[in-house]
Amino acid sequence: MSGELIGRRRALGLIGLGTAAVAAGTTGWAAGVGSSTSRVLQPGAVGAELAAHPVLSSSTGLLNITLTAAPGVTLAGRPTAALGYNGTSPGPVLRVRPGDLLRVRLVNRLDQPTNLHTHGLHVSPAGNSDNPFITVDPGASFDYAIQIPADHRPGTYWYHPHHHEHVADQVFGGLSGALIVDGQQRPVSDIERTIMITDTTVDSSGYVAAADPMAKMMGREGEWVLVNGQLQPTIASVPGTSERWRIVNACVSRVLALTLEAHQLTQIAVDGGSLPRARSLNRIVLAPGNRADVIVRPMSQGNYRLIAEPYDRGNAGMMGRMGTSFAGARPRVLATLAVSGPTRPTSGLSLLLSNTPLPAGRAVRTRHLTFATGMGMGGMAFTIDGRRFDPGRVDQAARLGTTEEWVVTNTSSMDHPFHLHVWPFEVVGDSAGTPASGAVQDVVLVPARGWVRLRVHFGDYAGRTVYHCHILDHEDAGMMGIIDVSA
Ligand code: C2O
Ligand code: CU
Ligand code: CU
Repeated sequence: MSGELIGRRRALGLIGLGTAAVAAGTTGWAAGVGSSTSRVLQPGAVGAELAAHPVLSSSTGLLNITLTAAPGVTLAGRPTAALGYNGTSPGPVLRVRPGDLLRVRLVNRLDQPTNLHTHGLHVSPAGNSDNPFITVDPGASFDYAIQIPADHRPGTYWYHPHHHEHVADQVFGGLSGALIVDGQQRPVSDIERTIMITDTTVDSSGYVAAADPMAKMMGREGEWVLVNGQLQPTIASVPGTSERWRIVNACVSRVLALTLEAHQLTQIAVDGGSLPRARSLNRIVLAPGNRADVIVRPMSQGNYRLIAEPYDRGNAGMMGRMGTSFAGARPRVLATLAVSGPTRPTSGLSLLLSNTPLPAGRAVRTRHLTFATGMGMGGMAFTIDGRRFDPGRVDQAARLGTTEEWVVTNTSSMDHPFHLHVWPFEVVGDSAGTPASGAVQDVVLVPARGWVRLRVHFGDYAGRTVYHCHILDHEDAGMMGIIDVSA
């Protein structure tokens, strides 16, 4: 076995892989197959019915689980060396309620450090709660205890690793899962589905492709765009059904501009926040990290494709200059809604939403942040306010109990999604003149050479955490800062 092969397998975190896959990998690498795009694994199943995904739900105030991060999951109907939690990618859907305690024993069976982040949850960033500074070494485990406040907003959240410099590799490798906070509100649909969209590239030997420096600079996009780990699954429905889709963009870098043929998507929530009222859209744009809860109402029989339209996040120009097409250049079919059978009588559900805006109140200060890219020593530098991430530095100090206005400016020629942990925000304005949605969210796409204006309320939870670009390659490259909120 060549040193290069061992190094590469180590880099991908492959321990305990089945013999067959190892043998295949040896052959592939010995033959010098190294390019991620020249040899993509043939999918094993395209168009299969969307399978039920494992769900772990709390009872009597507690969800007490183990999540084991390890290689060896089925993707697109094929066994692969990609990563998963408890043997699946995405990992199990976690369902909790406001006031619950979420206990997770995270077991690291990778060969690199990892940890766990509960993206979007308004919980403590300290100790063994949603603390992105924790390191769980290979072979080790860590016990998280995340107390969800009794007044937490119900909604669609997700979890993924957050160990600096390994985040993009591990999420692209397959590590992420949905995290749903159920509310007391009346059901708004007959049925509900979680639609976790991930992308990855698996080579013909079953290994997740490593990203080259150019892909990291652009933000890597995978050859496969998967729904709950399946390639172009079929979603079977009946005319007249009202379906709630909790859609999560868990891709490392890909912006999803979603359309559903012959249907409008009735959006009821942005990230974890309900909209004040439902809005019917032809297209919903989700940056990496964003979620959308939508109501889909198929009225007549037929097959309708859920499509990710081409979206140029600023990589088209650059890739064009290099004579290659940019990754998001062609539309991708994500799934097919197959509607058949007799029309079901409508169930008279109402779309009365319980929107909880941030408390009103004057902002005590305005903070300006700038996302920038530029040439630095050793290549492209990804910075916030001209600096790369430094775990020992506090970039923003805020006062507990206050409301602030943040203006995030992007001087670069690429879109960058801004994300803040723990404290959700409202987008109150942007350079494109988009009307405010009235919902709280936690990721917002800051357009190339544009800006967004946010309201953030630090009403609860003192502590230190991070804000960053949610193109995870950029985060790993240092497009991240630290905020410390104290009384
Ligand atoms: Cu989805 Cu800091 O992460
Ligand atoms: Cu987050
Ligand atoms: Cu970025």
